Amino acid sequence: MKIGVLTSGGDCPALNAVLRGLGKYVCENIPKAEIIGIPDGYGGLIEGEGRVMKKSDFSGILNIGGTILGTSRQPFKKMNVTTEDDPVSKAEKMKENYKKMKLDCLVTLGGAGTHKSAALLSELGLNVIGLPKTIDNDIYGTDFTFGFHSAVDVATECIDRIHTTAASHGRTMLVEIMGNKVGWLTLYAGIAGGADIILLPELPFDVDRVTKKISERAKEGKAFSIIAVAEGAMTEEEALMKKKERIAKREESGYTTVTEYLAKQIAEKVGVDTRTVVPGHLQRGGAPSPYDRLISTQVGSYAGYLIKQGIFGVTVAISGDTVTHNRLKDIAGKTKFVPVNHPLIKAARDIGVSFGVKR
Ligand code: F6P
Repeated sequence: MKIGVLTSGGDCPALNAVLRGLGKYVCENIPKAEIIGIPDGYGGLIEGEGRVMKKSDFSGILNIGGTILGTSRQPFKKMNVTTEDDPVSKAEKMKENYKKMKLDCLVTLGGAGTHKSAALLSELGLNVIGLPKTIDNDIYGTDFTFGFHSAVDVATECIDRIHTTAASHGRTMLVEIMGNKVGWLTLYAGIAGGADIILLPELPFDVDRVTKKISERAKEGKAFSIIAVAEGAMTEEEALMKKKERIAKREESGYTTVTEYLAKQIAEKVGVDTRTVVPGHLQRGGAPSPYDRLISTQVGSYAGYLIKQGIFGVTVAISGDTVTHNRLKDIAGKTKFVPVNHPLIKAARDIGVSFGVKR
């Protein structure tokens, strides 16, 4: 049996931990199987590249960040595109190479885009298993994605460090947290870091409610405030616009991000000193947290179990403290947003955290 494996899309901590879980399961339980490591995500499969991985490749990588296979972004919307110069689509090339490489199945570690392409390959007849990776935690049907909790740790530490300097100077400091269109990372790190205001894409905010909270804190003698801003957060007004319109409006006003815009508004309306901090890709780098190592071991070994059972066209999901699987076609293209009645939002509100909206 030949098992192809690739890591695709933006990297995150714990990709190697999952590869290790899968590799070790296969070595222990499907001894005659060969694992073919495909470099640079779908890019490697499009080019027909791959190398046999040895048992030793899966040792010593549990706590190593990034991915030993390399990764690349291959947008889903380009998968079926053909041109006069290149009449074979990327999806068809992958199908051809899967056959040429004599693969029996393909395991794809990736986020939302990777899962859409995995579902497409599955529709084309390939035996595919998806594994839910991303710091954004936005994959439908799983409680958590691997990489998320490690990023929560980094973002929380960042807010902790900002806290002390904000307090010393009596400043309002805005920390912009990754997460693409969803607010999971900002919600978790915001609460864990004790942010005073948390702004999520799922709850478009009103600038006046944000400034009101800062002024109220000042009246209570708290000269500083910490705002955790999701990179995808938007004002109530912006939420009524299409994405292109929103970007154009920000450019017109001289801002690229909502964080910059809000910092300026706060400085003008409240008259306090503001600073913005963007931890960016720091949130994706470095070693996986112990929790991520645990779920990665479960996810990787469960993928091996699915291969042994001949179960394909699925993606692995975390449910409570166990692992299960969902059909790729049922989850691909769906986004797991933060529910606005999430218990963590309620708990934070109950202790006075503002989400910049009417309660
Ligand atoms: O999906 C993971 C993620 O880190 C998002 O949170 C972020 O919006 C995006 O990737 C950044 O992408 P890139 O690494 O291509 O700049």
